[in-house]
Amino acid sequence: MPGKPDEVRSAYNRVVEEEFIALVVSKRADGGFERAIASRRLADLPPNDTLIRVRYSSLNYKDALSATGHRGVTRDYPHTPGIDAAGEIVESESARLAPGDEVIVTGYDLGMDTPGGFGQYVRVPAAWVMQKPDGLTLRESMVLGTAGFTAALGVHELQRHGITPESGDVLVTGASGGVGSVSVAILSKLGYRVVAATGKAEAHGWLRQLGAQEILSRDDVDDASGKALLKERWGGVVDAVGGDILATAIKATKRSGCVVCCGNVASPELHTTVYPFILRGVTLQGVDSATAAPSLRAQMWQRLAGEWKPSPAALDAIARDIALDELPPLIDAILQGRLQGRVVVAL
Ligand SMILES: NC(=O)c1ccc[n+]([C@@H]2O[C@H](COP(=O)([O-])OP(=O)(O)OC[C@H]3O[C@@H](n4cnc5c(N)ncnc54)[C@H](OP(=O)(O)O)[C@@H]3O)[C@@H](O)[C@H]2O)c1
Repeated sequence: MPGKPDEVRSAYNRVVEEEFIALVVSKRADGGFERAIASRRLADLPPNDTLIRVRYSSLNYKDALSATGHRGVTRDYPHTPGIDAAGEIVESESARLAPGDEVIVTGYDLGMDTPGGFGQYVRVPAAWVMQKPDGLTLRESMVLGTAGFTAALGVHELQRHGITPESGDVLVTGASGGVGSVSVAILSKLGYRVVAATGKAEAHGWLRQLGAQEILSRDDVDDASGKALLKERWGGVVDAVGGDILATAIKATKRSGCVVCCGNVASPELHTTVYPFILRGVTLQGVDSATAAPSLRAQMWQRLAGEWKPSPAALDAIARDIALDELPPLIDAILQGRLQGRVVVAL
């Protein structure tokens, strides 16, 4: 009979014991880290107010750091990385979210010390959850993911600093990576002349297909002269790599130009003089996607779903679709800078 205490308890147990599949990273006795596809229970997830059935996630550089024990990203193991998740609400205490709603979560603590999108379920605070905008499918939202959201923030910062297509060429570094490739696609769609800097000779044709008008090698954008200022070349820059390439870009940015700093795959160091700033009025603008305010997130995702959305051909060219068990070797590839475009994980 429904409602009998034993039956209620057994129904409850079925729910809390429901198992799902996730990529689990564990610390070995020798201090190393190993990854396995493992079964998890809903009861293993933290007691947040919103449960989501994840349909798609994506691979970002930060996930690879989490999967290899980088303490600046994740402190507690076993752990499921995945800073991106797109799926449906299962249950939520928030009046804003109803079962079945299609939603996106990117950043905050997801995939850092909160079990992330490389599992079929996440349980997160409702405040992290955004309704998927019309104009993007769940899968498309993860083709973009944090990399695309960061690219959008970069474009937003260039515009906010008055950089238009008339301001001159825009340099995108790490151009074949996630942030880089989406930046190339958005900026070219908006009419900027995009110069893509890449370490991958094999990616030149692909970057042109995304809209880059000129391709440079990493060496071309890594000045070794020691000069404090270089010939003015860039109206704007979106930099995903940091280090000497970022320093070179700053020195070669035109008067009143803007350099957006997003990443540090080459180096977290930045050695520069003050001259580009005090003699050319160059702006160095950082972006932080993880902690972006909800209103800015909503605005950026509306643009990504609308006038900034890369063409269907560009989205197809950027994305590679994989299953969860194909992820581990790609984690190594992204750490080594070998990935091209974006990896979408179907769950
Ligand atoms: N600030 C934020 O909110 C935010 C958000 C997302 C990502 N990020 C950061 O942005 C960076 C890129 O992330 P992602 O997800 O786009 O990674 P990704 O897909 O691996 O792209 C990075 C690209 O940088 C280039 N690269 C790799 N190693 C390099 C090296 N040693 N020297 C010069 N270039 C190198 C490669 O492109 P080429 O072969 O084409 O040169 C690589 O594909 C990471 O540092 C990430 O943590 C920051």
